[in-house]
Amino acid sequence: MSYKIGIFDSGIGGLTVLKAIQNCCPGHQIIYFGDTAKVPYGEKSSQTIQKYSVSNAEFLLSQGVDILVVACNTATAYALELLKERFQIPLVGVVAPGAKRAVELSKNRHIAVIGTKGTVSSDIYKKEIYRMDPSIKVTSQACPLFVPLVEEGWIDHPATELIIKEYLTPLLEMDIDTLLLGCTHYPLLSKAIHQHCEGKISIIDSAHACAENVKALVGNGKNGLDCTKYFVSDDPDKFRLLGKQLLNLSINELELTSG
Ligand code: DGL
Repeated sequence: MSYKIGIFDSGIGGLTVLKAIQNCCPGHQIIYFGDTAKVPYGEKSSQTIQKYSVSNAEFLLSQGVDILVVACNTATAYALELLKERFQIPLVGVVAPGAKRAVELSKNRHIAVIGTKGTVSSDIYKKEIYRMDPSIKVTSQACPLFVPLVEEGWIDHPATELIIKEYLTPLLEMDIDTLLLGCTHYPLLSKAIHQHCEGKISIIDSAHACAENVKALVGNGKNGLDCTKYFVSDDPDKFRLLGKQLLNLSINELELTSG
């Protein structure tokens, strides 16, 4: 059986989740909405993020999706529960799967979570991890400069290495053994983050953990063709370019919409 999987994010970051889903559960139709007119969500109030998330969900439902993936950590933090109350459709966020994977991997029981200011101040990862194991210590760090660096395409840039060092060195000095990338953009910096951490800790990407949860719901589909359709609320050319440059995605079917 093939499903129509709806995915939304504030912009291009959720393409890391889309790619993980395409690899993990091929053969389904995917409808992706990137709210590029309103990115970043990570600095906005909870009310604003909820309003945007409801409207993104309504748009994807109008496209006939069977399951909805909230591929944005900030939107998962502030709006997943609200969306679950409002819409009668299976909903998957990015936080719980990443948190579960971190709990499974950490041996010394000290996990660091990095994310946007919004995600970190919501304490969503901390709550989720404590719910699974209250004995685990969680240290959180907002890394607000990572998103603009990725949006600028500065993946291998010396400035990016310097900023990674600035944010992550204090965490590594705290004897963490697991680092959870709690933002959709951060897997795009994972090569530089791995280099900085020199293999000393486990690095978890919530995009992959989320894709495994989606797989548990939909399995493999029957559709042999790549039938992914993309919508953005602003600047489709930049979206197409970054999708190619950062993730090697060929974004053919792309439409501008107000959502
Ligand atoms: N998608 C957001 C997240 O995962 C990062 C970008 C933004 O701030 O909108 O939290």
